This record gives sequence, structure tokens and C-alpha cells, in this order.
Amino acid sequence: MSAAVPPTSQPHPQFAAYQGEIYLNGLAGTLPEFTTDAGGLEESARQRLEPGPFWYVAGAAGTGATARANREAFDRWRIVPRMLRDATTRDLSTTVLGTSMPAPILTAPVGVQSIVHRDGELATAIAAASLGLPMVLSTASSYTIEEVADANGAGPRWYQLYWPNDDEVCASLLRRARAAGYTTLVVTLDTWTLAWRPRDLDGAYLPFLRGVGTAIPFSDPAFRAGLARPPEEDLEAAVLHWVPMFTGKDKSWDRLPFLREHWSGPIVLKGVLHPDDARRAADAGMDGVIVSNHGGRQVDGAIAALDALPAVVEALAGRIEVLFDSGIRTGADVVKALVLGARAVLVGRPVAYGLAHGGEGGVRHVLRSLLADLDLTVGLSGCRTLADIDADLLAPRP
Ligand SMILES: Cc1cc2nc3c(=O)[nH]c(=O)nc-3n(C[C@H](O)[C@H](O)[C@H](O)COP(=O)(O)O)c2cc1C
Repeated sequence: MSAAVPPTSQPHPQFAAYQGEIYLNGLAGTLPEFTTDAGGLEESARQRLEPGPFWYVAGAAGTGATARANREAFDRWRIVPRMLRDATTRDLSTTVLGTSMPAPILTAPVGVQSIVHRDGELATAIAAASLGLPMVLSTASSYTIEEVADANGAGPRWYQLYWPNDDEVCASLLRRARAAGYTTLVVTLDTWTLAWRPRDLDGAYLPFLRGVGTAIPFSDPAFRAGLARPPEEDLEAAVLHWVPMFTGKDKSWDRLPFLREHWSGPIVLKGVLHPDDARRAADAGMDGVIVSNHGGRQVDGAIAALDALPAVVEALAGRIEVLFDSGIRTGADVVKALVLGARAVLVGRPVAYGLAHGGEGGVRHVLRSLLADLDLTVGLSGCRTLADIDADLLAPRP
């Protein structure tokens, strides 16, 4: 792995240049190390990974209906490009909750990344920072809050909380994340227990039980204080202490003030699909929501996240920020989510598939491909900035 590089110093990087780079490298006989086709990434990763890790990433809840619905929802919208609008150079930059980014894309919190590549979250942190894109670090990380911050360097970073049932441990994680430069807190609401995931169940594959994806609690002083012996000496006891602490208990709206008390930055609730929940989030003083169904990994038969987006946007009427994930694969998908009201999107599985292809370089290739595709789609649609991406740009599929 190379060392963390500072975010690009160019004010408005022309991401489409990656296309020219690839063609020019081709003249010299060098092809991309793996596919630029978002649709081919999953299969390419399948060929590199053992079934357990592959299905942990690619799998979904139940019959997979929600994951399929996520993709189908994008296909029900069509972009209507505009011509002769001088869109030769673009500026895709934006600022969300005080975090500026060169394009409205963040890497989603994806836990246990070391199951697809040993460098795991460190590689993702370096790749995201090199492009200036914010990374959202999962509580289920294979590396500690501080190690990932070091790898991320000057890159923007947010912290995702799986809300522990122990307040002392929760407060300690939040303290560490703030101290390590994570600016926004993402609180995931939809995974207070794991859904029925047949692919993982059939292989009895759950990395946490093997002590993978537990680096954050295992390095936490408040967590360690509750153990008779440290995790290095008694892994099983530590695992059995942690698993029920971060799963198994739903919380309620009246608990949100606790988070506000222990986190001085913006707070975003992830997993909101109903407009009433979005209103409650705003009423509770939250700063944003992420419209998400966890990439179809939780409630089978749930509403597609993209189908839920417009009603949430309407219910909030600009009171707080709306972000989006679940099913983003291409530049066109990003444009559609933005038109439907998202301020920025998060990308989950594609980043993990990139990671499976050699770590940091693989993540960079996937992110640069998505950014280039977005840049070209925006330009060819006749838009120069995100402000040009308005409702006019989308029509329902006939
Ligand atoms: C392997 C894997 C692990 C994930 N781990 C987490 C996690 O630790 N915390 C979380 O909030 N979401 C987690 N997610 C959900 C993602 O943050 C995101 O909501 C989802 O992947 C978006 O859908 P997409 O994969 O279609 O982009 C995970 C997703 C995957 C695929």
C-alpha cells in the first residue's frame, strides 16, 4: 500500500479524464486491471473470493427481492439530455454538512472489509482520500478508528455507529471518533439485529464470531474494562461480550438526545424509508437522513430505496439533508438519485468488489470509473454543475 496522499489540490477535477487515460494506456499495450463495467464487477469479484466472503458482500436478505427492487427502481427513470449548453468542463463539487467533496459521492460504511482484502478499511481510506471523497467508517471495521484515520490522513471522514447497548462504551466510541477527526456521525437504525440471510446461514458464515470486524470495540478502553481478560487472551469471551452489545436491541426516538449529548458535530440517521420517520428525525434535531434499505440486506420485500426517496424529500421540505444509498452502480444512477432529491449518495458493494481486486488500487479504479462515468453523463446531459441537475432532466420510463 502507498502512503496516504492528500486530497487532490485541483479545485474541480475533470474526472472524465480517466477515460482518456485508459485509452492512451491501451495504445501502449496496457489495459485496465479489471473491468470498467459496473455490471461485471460482482462476477469479477466472485472469481477472486472464497464463497463465504463473496456471499457476505453480494448476498441480501431472504429472497433478494429488496436488492432486486433497488436496481429495478433506477430502470424506471430515464434521463432526458439537453444539447448545446456548453458543458465541456464540469464542476461536480458540493458541500454536505460542512464536508466539501469534489463529487456528491461517499464510500458507504461497509464492515469487515478484511474478509475481501487484508488491507481492508485502510485501503479504502487511502483510496477515498486520494480522490477527496469522504469515507464513512463502520463500527464493524477490521481496523481501529485511529488506524483508519491515520491511513485517511487529510481526507474527509465520517463515523458510522452501530449503537451499542452499553452507554459507557457508546460514549467512548464517539469520543474516539471525534478525537480522530471524523466530522459527522452516521447512526444506522435498520440493523439492530441481523436479518435472515440465507447465503450466510447456509455456510454458517458470520465474521464477527471469529473476531473479525471487531477491532473498534476490542481496542476500546470502556469495552475492555468490562472483560475479565483482554481479547488477545480470550477471544471467545470478548466476542460473546461484544455481539449482544451491538446487536439484539432496538432503540427508541427518545434515546436520540444521548447521542446529541456525546457528539458535537452533525448527526445523520441511516436507514430511513418512511416520510414520518424522516419528519421525526428533523423534529428530534438531527441534521440529516440517509434513505437506505441497507442494500437489500435487512427487510426482504422492502420498498426500493429510490422509490422511498421522493416522499422523504417532500416530507422534509429542505429542513435537513437527505442522502441516499442502495443500488448505486453507475453515473446515471447518481444523476437519478440527485434529481429525485438526494444531496449526495453512498456506494457500498462496488467499493468492496474493488477492494477484492488488489486492495487500494482496486478501490481507486472502481471510484475513478464511477466518477468518470458520472462526469461524462452529467456533461453529455448538458449540465455543468450539480445545480443544473433538476427535475427536467428525468422522465418516467414509458
Ligand atoms: C458487506 C457489507 C457490509 C456492510 N456493513 C455495514 C455496516 O457495517 N454499517 C452500515 O451502516 N451499513 C453497512 N452496509 C450497508 C451499506 O452501508 C450500504 O447501505 C449498502 O451497501 C448500499 O447498497 P449498495 O451495496 O447497493 O451500494 C454493508 C453493506 C455490505 C455490502
